[in-house]
Amino acid sequence: MNNNIQNVSITGIGMYVPEKTLDNAHFESYLDTSDEWITKRTGVKTRHIVEKGTPNSDLSYEAAVKALEMSGVAPEELDLIIVATVTPDRLFPSTACTLQAKLGAGDCGAFDVLAACSGFIYALSIAHGQMALGNVKKVLVVGSEVMSSIIDYNDRGICVLFGDGAGAVVLENVPEDRGSLVDYIIRADGRQGEILYMPAGGSLNPTSFETVKKNMHTVKMEGNKVFKLAIKHMAELAREITQRNGLTLDDIDMVCIHQANIRIVKGVMSALHLDMATKSYNNIDRYGNTTAASIPLCVHDAFKDNRLKKGDKMIILTFGAGLTYAAALMEWGIENTLQDSTAIADTKEAIEEQKITVPAGVNGKKNISMDI
Ligand code: COA
Repeated sequence: MNNNIQNVSITGIGMYVPEKTLDNAHFESYLDTSDEWITKRTGVKTRHIVEKGTPNSDLSYEAAVKALEMSGVAPEELDLIIVATVTPDRLFPSTACTLQAKLGAGDCGAFDVLAACSGFIYALSIAHGQMALGNVKKVLVVGSEVMSSIIDYNDRGICVLFGDGAGAVVLENVPEDRGSLVDYIIRADGRQGEILYMPAGGSLNPTSFETVKKNMHTVKMEGNKVFKLAIKHMAELAREITQRNGLTLDDIDMVCIHQANIRIVKGVMSALHLDMATKSYNNIDRYGNTTAASIPLCVHDAFKDNRLKKGDKMIILTFGAGLTYAAALMEWGIENTLQDSTAIADTKEAIEEQKITVPAGVNGKKNISMDI
């Protein structure tokens, strides 16, 4: 074992959402709801949904390939794959193992993390821990969900909120001028598990005709309780993680908050006295709540839209079923060269035609796979 704790940073990021979308008019057509209510009360305008039967590992794969291409890391170089999800392909084997096979990675470690909307930060912290121990050097962390597989599309308080998608990052030991993952806080309050849960499908209520008949395989939530606790806990975590690292909230350039409801983001930013327009990034209008994928999708798009720049200090905050809540502090280390869209389009085309493998460390090829 090597106990040298080296700097760890995100060196590649990728995302994927399925092509099919459901906009608010779709729900107006069969539920007692309206575009106005959904937009005003949640901020969601549309969400991406898979074709029925598409496994989570397909979404994970698409996002992972893009993150790997940006980092210049080949799948066979990976030492560990972690997938955060509540909608795995199957209970076992883990989606991470299936993803490993799909990517053609070697016999690296692979497992799923179940911490709902906080899963991505939980997974990042575990990955970092393994790297700090010297056990692994290159890690793929994915947040991926097919929420449409566990949503009751007749429950208007739930179905308008969620969408499918995946985001992935590659972690490597790199010099500090390429960014740093600085700190994590991971917390849970299991006493309140049943304000957001899926009743059946596990050992407590194994799948049966009865559980299916009673609609026990879909998300149940006391939305308003979740809403209030989400604001309280994420605001507290933001203060705690800045303070314990000798920073103030004014030192933070970007806050990416779990995209559950735009009013939750507003509540957190206002509790922190931070300007929502300049210091947060939000894409809930386009994707809805994608649970474990929400944070990597948010960070990806903030970066793509040039709102997150190299050297920026960023906090990410999550809250979800468990209840789980988490925060991470990082300095972003990837230069955004996405403005050169012609070069990117050319390279994308070349990859699709020739399946080019980008060699490690070739700077000019770092952003070829971004969705632009
Ligand atoms: N269209 C119209 N009305 C709706 C509706 C919809 N899609 N969904 C709920 N309503 C109704 C409710 O039935 C309720 O009606 P009532 O007063 O007649 O009973 C009313 O709107 C207000 O419901 P309430 O739950 O008090 O509203 P809210 O302000 O808390 O908003 C959520 C509801 C679900 C949008 C909000 O609580 C929320 O976003 N919670 C967190 C959700 C989440 O993402 N959780 C996942 C992990 S973080």
